[in-house]
Amino acid sequence: MKLTVIGCGYLGATHAACMAELGHDVLGIDIDADKIARLRAGDVPFFEPGLADIIRRGLSSGRLSFSTDHREAARHASVHFLGVGTPQETRGHAADLGHVNAAIDALVPTLTGQHLIIGKSTVPVGTCAGLAQRVAVLAGRDASVEVAWSPEFLREGFAVEDSLAPDRLVLGVNPASTASSAPAVIREVYREVLETGIPLIETDWSTAELVKVAANAFLATKISFINAISEICEIVDADVTTLADAIGHDQRIGRKFLNAGLGFGGGCLPKDIRAFAARAEEIGASGALGFLREVDAINMRRRSAAVELTAQAVGGDLLGRNIAVLGASFKPESDDVRDSPALSVAAQLALYGAAVTVFDPKALDNSRRVQPMLGYAGSAREACDRADAVVVATEWAEFVHMSPDELDPVVRAKVIIDGRRCLDPWMWREAGWNYVAIGGPVTGTAAGADARRDTAGRTLPATVTALASRRILG
Ligand code: UGA
Repeated sequence: MKLTVIGCGYLGATHAACMAELGHDVLGIDIDADKIARLRAGDVPFFEPGLADIIRRGLSSGRLSFSTDHREAARHASVHFLGVGTPQETRGHAADLGHVNAAIDALVPTLTGQHLIIGKSTVPVGTCAGLAQRVAVLAGRDASVEVAWSPEFLREGFAVEDSLAPDRLVLGVNPASTASSAPAVIREVYREVLETGIPLIETDWSTAELVKVAANAFLATKISFINAISEICEIVDADVTTLADAIGHDQRIGRKFLNAGLGFGGGCLPKDIRAFAARAEEIGASGALGFLREVDAINMRRRSAAVELTAQAVGGDLLGRNIAVLGASFKPESDDVRDSPALSVAAQLALYGAAVTVFDPKALDNSRRVQPMLGYAGSAREACDRADAVVVATEWAEFVHMSPDELDPVVRAKVIIDGRRCLDPWMWREAGWNYVAIGGPVTGTAAGADARRDTAGRTLPATVTALASRRILG
């Protein structure tokens, strides 16, 4: 099928490449000429495992191309996916629909004949209805343009996998329409994917819009739930990781997304829960989502808790201390530092007078742009040079697998703060380090950790159990 994807950021570029991978003839459109030039050259403007390969494969097969000209979209196809960003408003919590509206304004007047626009961005409930009205005003007399919504659920770091093998597909159409073309189109677009048994849930606009924000609100709530419990664990010296394992065995609860630590960040969960609550208020249901404010507050408190824990670990005063922060991205396998708990902690430590040096395997350039006043190093070892404390703020595999021997010769004091509860405390303690974890003590035994099994039933060595529990279980 001939398809276009409007917006070639994280979501759009991945979607365009994955559609080409499924055999479609795809044109990606973005107003950012630099981004388009890079994509045309097979150069992905952000770090996402596996994406560069499929973009290059799409380009060389001729099934994937990019342009900055919306008129080309009109000529190329009659099915247009919309994947532009919906960031948080500058002076409020609502979603800024400026990019969505601009994309519609640029595309619709150029269309003739029958067209289908399928939105993939995360939007507030009611957006489709508003866009349909906008489209009706903008469309020429010889054009008939339908709007449908199929929200995207991909995670950064797993974007390709999540796009090609999603848990489910959702399609929302105009509830008043009796002859929507969207279900047949989506079935054809995703034929290969649907043949593997992945469910397609067909519904109305509002339900589809809500499915996405409800899913992200639930995930954020789950993380803040365990982090709230970890605040209690900190006071009574209980082990929140063991607790999460134990409650996670209850299949109604599940172990995934119950990793206590620095909390959630990134370009999605924080802004989506805020936009959801803001929208609830607009439609007269502010009470319904009042709890999301608490979810947000618990999440933010974890950052200050990490700063406090670090201060305590260096004797109470951060002023003049050298602190190494390992990790800056909001999660591993990503170079995204938007609302990153790791970078926020680094900045707060600096605010209290610490000399902070950050290392991240992929996010150094982005971090420098956002926090130019912090120090940066080219390796974990370099960041830890003469450190009074080392804070592990993002659970990159290289930090999880790091051996105390690597840092012993360079640090000034053997103090390590585990902001993601991802390290093996016994290994660090045996090497003479003062190991402290956010969220309270890790009280299980080394043998207990050893016995933790991955989902395939394999016993993992002690050093990788912590990573396994995050990456496989969570
Ligand atoms: C999230 C959702 O998981 C996707 O389904 C959704 O499509 C996407 O937002 C979006 O709306 O586009 P993403 O932002 O890539 O995906 O990140 P997650 O994997 O959800 O992680 C979010 C944050 O939660 C990270 O900072 C992570 O470190 C943190 N987290 C996750 C925890 O603190 N504990 C956990 O147990 C799990």
